[in-house]
Amino acid sequence: MALALKTAEGPLTNGFEDVFLLPDSVPELAFTEIDLSTEFLGKKLQYPLLINALTGGTEEALRINRDLGTLAARNGLAMAVGSMTIAFEDRAALESFTVVRHVNPHGIVLANCGADIKPRLACEAIEMIGADGLQLHFNITQELAMPEGDRDFRGILDNIMNIIALSPVPVIAKEVGFGMTAETVQRLYGAGIRIFDNGGSGGTNFIAIEDKRGGKFEHQLDEWGISTAISLAEIISLGLPVKVVASGGMRSSLDMAKALAMGADLVGIAGYFLNILLQNSAEQLEKSIESLLYQLRSVFLMSGARDCQAIRTKPVVLCGRTAEWLRSRRIDPGLWSHR
Ligand SMILES: Cc1cc2nc3c(=O)[nH]c(=O)nc-3n(C[C@H](O)[C@H](O)[C@H](O)COP(=O)(O)O)c2cc1C
Repeated sequence: MALALKTAEGPLTNGFEDVFLLPDSVPELAFTEIDLSTEFLGKKLQYPLLINALTGGTEEALRINRDLGTLAARNGLAMAVGSMTIAFEDRAALESFTVVRHVNPHGIVLANCGADIKPRLACEAIEMIGADGLQLHFNITQELAMPEGDRDFRGILDNIMNIIALSPVPVIAKEVGFGMTAETVQRLYGAGIRIFDNGGSGGTNFIAIEDKRGGKFEHQLDEWGISTAISLAEIISLGLPVKVVASGGMRSSLDMAKALAMGADLVGIAGYFLNILLQNSAEQLEKSIESLLYQLRSVFLMSGARDCQAIRTKPVVLCGRTAEWLRSRRIDPGLWSHR
């Protein structure tokens, strides 16, 4: 965690500099009418925002998760805990995860495990925190960058099918900063996944983080991955009946609105929130989230969108490298602008 805080985001961007929402000068809406609430996993959220997986297992993680969970409960946000593997090895670590449910008894809480977790343990993780959903993270890139990391990634699709068969709650496939492509999503869809957290580039960069502590990539692969905007466009263009969390380098209300307009159901933010919490305080983080949400409401009004459904009907123009990328992938960037 200390290394993550010390490592600069990027160098790739999240891609939303290529995405534009159109201003509506006659929106005929009042600020108080803007409704940012949404439904996810059968529960209502006040805002389409997920505090994404960060931590668990230590005393410090307990404090962080308590602060983040309290904030999620007070502001009507969803929250995911960090990887729960440690809770199976060290029962003393359990409270750093369960605290998230204690402080937020009715909200949306997500369990988090590696995609190679044994199905029985995945169910235990869900039960531990009364999770509404299970995030399965894919961190192949990080494992390869780590000198002591995994090197064998076979059997994951079968494992996911087994987890889905046993899991009492929906399973979410989650990238951690390198972006999911249309092909990846199609294969995971085939295995039964219906919710994707696309985790594109532009924010936390696990290659750069690992290389700070002697990783195997020696800063030669810092530009690996695809942007969150490109990944989102690839997924939405498939037209599958899936839910999508747009994440990776998300930190402004404008980027949030653009992602929601392109078809994301929620936006996930991890590193940006952690930085504010650890370098300032929980009070400062709450103020920053309030500002973010005020600004998000403003962008909705300025685009003439009353709610999360309406913003999806507004034209979104994709240009620059993102449009070029999509055209070369035979995806029409006009999908979002001609509506
Ligand atoms: C310190 C730190 C720890 C993280 N731990 C986890 C984890 O345990 N499980 C997981 O799925 N993702 C983990 N992530 C990844 C985030 O959930 C997120 O996918 C990634 O950081 C990209 O989002 P961001 O750019 O908003 O940080 C972690 C991120 C950070 C910064």
